[in-house]
Amino acid sequence: MKLIALMASSLLLTSVAIAEEVPNAANGQKLFNESRCLECHGVDLFTSKNRKVQNLPGLESMVRRCDANLSTNWFDDQILDVVAYLNKAYYKFDLDTQQSSHSDTYSPDATAAEVETAVVAANTGDD
Ligand code: HEC
Repeated sequence: MKLIALMASSLLLTSVAIAEEVPNAANGQKLFNESRCLECHGVDLFTSKNRKVQNLPGLESMVRRCDANLSTNWFDDQILDVVAYLNKAYYKFDLDTQQSSHSDTYSPDATAAEVETAVVAANTGDD
């Protein structure tokens, strides 16, 4: 009886540990492989020198766009799982500096006001 209780509680602990891995790149890989993501482009696009995605937020919005094209209708957490997988396997953006990789017009230590100014300046440059 004791043994069963012990097994049950360790099972519980294991599932809690799995559930806590958010986002879950392994699940993202499964979703990606099960989806029709490679109908229009191969994974070589993700490592190409000409790839467009430059940071994690960009990767996320691209996955959302492509998911919408497919009408896969992934849930938000599924999108994030796929983003985690693609980042782990191909893009390899640094998770800790995702904010600062957004743009090099301002430093990661900039205050919100400085960032705002830099963004406005970047958007209003005359061409
Ligand atoms: C209907 C065709 C189509 C399907 C299906 C599709 N994509 Fe895309 N994907 C594109 C196109 C076109 C681009 C390039 C868009 C651009 O350059 O603006 C792209 C670009 C991307 C990029 C960015 C590549 C870069 O330049 O860094 C990612 C990431 C991506 N797709 C992920 C996915 C995922 C994940 C799926 C499955 C949910 C998917 N795509 C399914 C058409 C598709």
